[in-house]
Amino acid sequence: MIHIGEGRRTLARAFHLAVPGANERMPMNPRFDFSGRTAIVTGAARGIGSVMLHRFVESGAGVVAADRDTTGLAESCTGLDETRVIALTADVSTPEGAARIVAAAVDHFGRLDICVNNAAVAPHAALLEERVEVWDLVYAVNCRGTFLMTQAAARAMIAGGAGGRIVNFSSGVSGTGSPGAAAYASSRAAVESFTRVAAIELAPHDILVNAVSPGLIDTQPKPLPPVMAERLGRRIPSLPLARPGEPEEVASVVLFLASDLSSYVTGAVWNVDGGAGIGSRPTGQIIDDDPRYDWVTGKGPA
Ligand SMILES: NC(=O)c1ccc[n+]([C@@H]2O[C@H](COP(=O)([O-])OP(=O)(O)OC[C@H]3O[C@@H](n4cnc5c(N)ncnc54)[C@H](O)[C@@H]3O)[C@@H](O)[C@H]2O)c1
Repeated sequence: MIHIGEGRRTLARAFHLAVPGANERMPMNPRFDFSGRTAIVTGAARGIGSVMLHRFVESGAGVVAADRDTTGLAESCTGLDETRVIALTADVSTPEGAARIVAAAVDHFGRLDICVNNAAVAPHAALLEERVEVWDLVYAVNCRGTFLMTQAAARAMIAGGAGGRIVNFSSGVSGTGSPGAAAYASSRAAVESFTRVAAIELAPHDILVNAVSPGLIDTQPKPLPPVMAERLGRRIPSLPLARPGEPEEVASVVLFLASDLSSYVTGAVWNVDGGAGIGSRPTGQIIDDDPRYDWVTGKGPA
């Protein structure tokens, strides 16, 4: 399922095993091989979904690229091997949409191995001004869509008898009190909880279910609106890695979770956030500002 360079020497170097020169910083370019496998990527018309679509096709998979945006989907599929991509306009928040997406995979490619539930909406509004219809839309796409796709995909995988992989999407805001994100953040937290339940229930069928939780990923069209540019200009230097993530970096984790390399991983939430969820980048020198004692001897200053 994975090729790393050309043989043992390169493989050892890729993982920094004990070979001469292993401590030199060598390029690590693992390549996945999904030949003969079929994947679904929802929300494939743009952003992270579009990059995942390309990565799966380049790695040999047959892919159903699904989105409600027909024009964006056509642009996203441009240049891909047409024999290995089905572009399908469908709404993941409806049972009919989810059923059509899964049926396309089975009808066209004869099997379903991987389902990436990436489609989501992220409108932000102040809690006191939140509109019920927007709240309901967020939950319809982000939660009901993930449930419907998981259920339909799992049924097809069970019928296929070869197990499978389901990767859901959360967000770093699921665990913080991000202003304006009441609907979006809570919907992403719900997906994390759903992922754990699905992982337990589908484990007997050899279907592994995980979630990725991206942090700040560089998906916005440029130039950025001035207010957003100003906000990000303040936020980015405080991120532990002091930069936004690339969609490619999220796709890499998803491909890993879809591959045989992750065969003992289920029910987990994978943060792809450059460390944003664990703290801030240190600023200045790190000092102990409690000078009362020597911590080893317990004595005060002489
Ligand atoms: N970009 C980020 O910084 C970031 C951060 C945290 C989490 N995420 C998560 O990563 C995922 C991808 O994010 P993105 O920024 O690439 O998203 P995006 O908004 O650029 O793309 C989402 C896609 O989903 C599609 N979609 C929306 N509703 C749909 C529906 N009902 N049926 C079918 N398709 C539908 C949209 O048309 C769009 O093409 C999302 O799940 C998001 O919550 C992104």
